[in-house]
Amino acid sequence: MANIFAKKPLSQLLGEANTSGEGSLKRTLGAANLVALGVGAIIGAGLFVRTAAAAAQAAGPGVTLAFIVAAIGCAFAGLCYAEFAAMIPIAGSAYTYAYTTMGEFVAWVIGWALIMEYALGAATVSIAWSEYLNKLLEVFGTRIPYELCHAPSEGGWLNLPALLVIIALSLLLIKGTQESATFNAIIVVVKVVIVLVFIAVGWQFIDPANHTPYLIPADAAPVTDAAGKVVHEYTNWNKHGYGGILGGAAIVFFAFIGFDAVSTAAQEAKNPKRDMPIGILGSLAVCTILYILFGHVLTGVANWREFADPTKGGEASVAYAIREHMPGYGWLSTAVTVAILAGFSSVILVMLMGQSRVFFSMANDGLMPKAFSELHPKFRTPYKSNLVLLVFVGAFAAFVPGSLAGDLTSFGTLLAFVLVSIGVWLMRKSNPEQHRPFRSPLSSASFPLVPILGAVICLLMIAALDLFTLQVAIVWMVLGFIVYFIYGKNNSKLQQGIVVVPKEMEEEFFIEPIDKK
Ligand code: ALA
Repeated sequence: MANIFAKKPLSQLLGEANTSGEGSLKRTLGAANLVALGVGAIIGAGLFVRTAAAAAQAAGPGVTLAFIVAAIGCAFAGLCYAEFAAMIPIAGSAYTYAYTTMGEFVAWVIGWALIMEYALGAATVSIAWSEYLNKLLEVFGTRIPYELCHAPSEGGWLNLPALLVIIALSLLLIKGTQESATFNAIIVVVKVVIVLVFIAVGWQFIDPANHTPYLIPADAAPVTDAAGKVVHEYTNWNKHGYGGILGGAAIVFFAFIGFDAVSTAAQEAKNPKRDMPIGILGSLAVCTILYILFGHVLTGVANWREFADPTKGGEASVAYAIREHMPGYGWLSTAVTVAILAGFSSVILVMLMGQSRVFFSMANDGLMPKAFSELHPKFRTPYKSNLVLLVFVGAFAAFVPGSLAGDLTSFGTLLAFVLVSIGVWLMRKSNPEQHRPFRSPLSSASFPLVPILGAVICLLMIAALDLFTLQVAIVWMVLGFIVYFIYGKNNSKLQQGIVVVPKEMEEEFFIEPIDKK
């Protein structure tokens, strides 16, 4: 009988990390590239869309505090990711860590959940990209015909811009990791500069009255639309006061998704032991500071109630705030749209890259078809994986409406965070002597405070997701179980005793086939 909880030996993983032959990814990324990769994946729809939503629905000007709470939750998980990524610098991230700490089946569950985070995440953001492209075109008095930028269920034919951006970025990824990183770095500069300009210019237009009171009062009047229908109420515990900060944190959590994608590139980092923690924690820190300042300015320039009102700042909130409250800065509104488009492109790029690296690792282990781990003879990128994703994510982008996938992305991410946090603790127990270039603080085997807090906070955020999201996520996970028992378990190299290390190291890493044990 195969043992579905078989663990991949750590020594074997470290052997894989040290390979540098034909079949391995190129180590081309330095610390600055990695921070840029993180910022590239992090700043996107979350900041530009969800900041106002969190202020309007739960936190008021206290959205700054909501960012701090979400950042603390991410920081715990981020510390755990950093420990693993420095110790096991292999593509595959949470999937790989789970394989060696919790066994094959849990690793599979994570790999399957990460598809929700990365592949669905990329599709969702590409659909938002298409919407904002139209906003930019409107400045020039034109727009793409409705049928060509909406899914069939919305009365369109297909979402062509969303499909095209997926195709373009997939081809860029095939061309090379370094090229993609350079493209990403340029975009990161554009979007960070525009965020900074918004903060600097907007600061002068802050009206302190908009920041008083700082939290939504319990007796705040409900918001109604033009027809008098109630759109938002503030009576629930998580919609006002301190509870509203937590409610807001769950909404803005999406804005932090992406720092973990840095760890998927561990096998392409030049000096992963030093640079992985810098990349993961550095990008998280940079974004947290920008987010707090951005939230402070946005809720100071316009009143949070305006963002709750669908006839005012309920949509395209940042552009609304500039137009209505920052006279003379119309150009900034166009610049913000450009930043949003650039921001979305880099989020999609890093998500697509992360997904192909997770598939690369799963295929190397035999849990996914071999094609996913085949590298391009010249570019040394997992091009077949990128091409399959181009079709899968592209189809999603072209034919599925955008509203479906956002919260599923959060679910997949949070599940990975929980298991990575637990994994750090298990690894401290099972391999206490193993060299750890970066050690997460307060995480010893006997006192695993950071891993526990990381897991608990993320579990609470999963519980706060809406019921429909949880139902769809469960269906997706059950589908994953079926695929594992039909395909993965039977093709797993670990189960067959096949070791994925170069010939000269085989003896050192030989493991007994599990069946024969
Ligand atoms: N953090 C990414 C965004 O906000 C997913 O778009």
